[in-house]
Amino acid sequence: MSGTGAAQSLRDQALALDGADELRDFRAHFALPRDAAGAELAYLCGHSLGLAPLAARARVLEELEDWERLGVLGHEHGRRAWVGYAERLAPLLAALAGAQPGEVVAMNSLTVNLHLLLASFYRPTRTRYRIMIESGAFPSDRYLVDSQIRWHGLEPAATLIEVAPRPGEELLRMEDIDAHIGAAGESLALVLWPGVQYRTGQAFDIAQIVSSAHCNDTIVGFDLAHAIGNLPLSLHDSGADFAAWCSYKYLNGGPGAIGGAFVHERHGHDARLPRIAGWWGSNPATRFEMGREFELTPGAAGWQLSNPPVLSAAPLFASLELFAAAGMARLRAKSRSLTAFLQAALRERCGDALELITPAAGEQRGAQLSVRVRGGSERARRAFVALEQRGVVADWREPDTIRLAPVPLYNRYLEAWRTAEELAAAMGAHAPAAP
Ligand SMILES: Cc1ncc(COP(=O)(O)O)c(C=O)c1O
Repeated sequence: MSGTGAAQSLRDQALALDGADELRDFRAHFALPRDAAGAELAYLCGHSLGLAPLAARARVLEELEDWERLGVLGHEHGRRAWVGYAERLAPLLAALAGAQPGEVVAMNSLTVNLHLLLASFYRPTRTRYRIMIESGAFPSDRYLVDSQIRWHGLEPAATLIEVAPRPGEELLRMEDIDAHIGAAGESLALVLWPGVQYRTGQAFDIAQIVSSAHCNDTIVGFDLAHAIGNLPLSLHDSGADFAAWCSYKYLNGGPGAIGGAFVHERHGHDARLPRIAGWWGSNPATRFEMGREFELTPGAAGWQLSNPPVLSAAPLFASLELFAAAGMARLRAKSRSLTAFLQAALRERCGDALELITPAAGEQRGAQLSVRVRGGSERARRAFVALEQRGVVADWREPDTIRLAPVPLYNRYLEAWRTAEELAAAMGAHAPAAP
């Protein structure tokens, strides 16, 4: 097929798929970024910052109005009394986390939450003290485990275990994760693992990692920054000890939005677990008696420190209501199909000029495709800049990788088609792939 013919047929396919998409109306609930001339951008960056639900503005304004109208009385008499604000987010988040409502809490931000959880779950002893992460861990996760290790007076070099892909490979193999857990044996105190790896987009089998860690009597927690709202999760059934996430990526909670945390119910009632405590984790029924003793609130809510940031939590309601209406099963089905369509379109339009880093199999990834632009970092960077100038919003990871996320809640197949076209043009690589 000629380049033009291939483009036409891909575009027709995209239009037909958009027409048949039962979730297509959800796009109208989001603000769609435009360029300076007012033309719609193809926004494939929901893995970094999700788009604004249109209802977010009204949600925030309602809280501002209640503050203006009621002052401090808004805590009790606001339309959504602020005193129970975080509690009302919990069931909506729990549905996405595959957790019981009491196992989930909305609070703080991701790195803060992981620190709070490690304060409880990383309790090194003389014999069991090591932490395992993946070698490509997000820098904040690396800094946090490094600092936790030092906090306990230990040396990271002798304490941190890093699992790397095999030489020449990009992705991690479950058998290598297992082997590292087995090799560390009873020295391994804690595994901190991503649900989806931020750079490669590789999704991990959470239940399998939990099972492997627990067979070794090791605590296991997850950074779900790139997993929540992207993949269906079953945190409770998986038996994971804890998890945390941010809400500004697939959850569309807005820049710096309130984060979330999961603590399995078997730990939630354990008053002996040491924790970094604050008044918002103390029993809500007696909290305002201002007593001297901390009275543990059972469940994940017991890890709260402070009263919730209402203005940064308000937009999340708007988004989570859309998730509840769309349903994670339908979103996942569209996500698989839309991502596979983008993959096929990139292959057809960009051919071997791109290398797909993300797993090619749909069940091993979410909505993100990471592609390496062949020909060196400089060429890759130029292609990324040209892609941006052509109206596609993606993001860049050094030295040569572009990350693209077609998000099922608001992206169309036509945008996936457009992205492949524009990337091909940006690279000057119109030649179709060899059959
Ligand atoms: C995988 C991962 N972990 C941690 C973080 C840090 O998040 P925060 O700034 O909310 O603490 C990010 C932010 O993008 C991330 O992608």
